[in-house]
Amino acid sequence: MDLDTMMDRRHSVRSYGGIPPSDQDMDRIVAAARKAPSAGGLKALRVFVLGSGTERKCMMEAALHQSFIAEAPFLLLFCADHKAIEPYGDRGKELYCVQDATIAAAFAMLKATELGLGTCWVGAFDEAKVRKAAGLPGHLRPVAMLTVGYEK
Ligand SMILES: Cc1cc2nc3c(=O)[nH]c(=O)nc-3n(C[C@H](O)[C@H](O)[C@H](O)COP(=O)(O)O)c2cc1C
Repeated sequence: MDLDTMMDRRHSVRSYGGIPPSDQDMDRIVAAARKAPSAGGLKALRVFVLGSGTERKCMMEAALHQSFIAEAPFLLLFCADHKAIEPYGDRGKELYCVQDATIAAAFAMLKATELGLGTCWVGAFDEAKVRKAAGLPGHLRPVAMLTVGYEK
């Protein structure tokens, strides 16, 4: 699929069918995220793949109870890594690692589209609740989530 077609096809999917994406496809999506550029090549981000019903329900509650989050078979959580970006000081912490996580999420989104999967970017969430639900250490800041699955 060429890039124009992919960008035309991509849209936010908030209704998911029963068949989950394969583990192989989820690996491909995470691998695509890792290919994104990052400030100084430091890759100051972490990606978590959340597949269990309990995890997705907790994230749904942390994200204003947007119900499609629990219905999607997978949820990717993109975090900025404050420790990895330390060499770039305040600007790194406030901006670069957030951009690293964001562009990685965009790469993941396009890869999922190429694989015929639907996604929805989720930015409306309570950071403290997401931190707690995902058990994140203090140096990881949750930046974005992507639901992933086949559109119903
Ligand atoms: C930074 C950001 C935050 C978003 N947060 C949410 C969200 O919390 N819930 C949601 O349903 N969609 C969210 N979206 C998806 C947008 O609503 C969606 O991309 C927009 O309406 C355009 O529709 P499209 O993606 O189908 O082109 C978010 C998108 C971005 C880029």
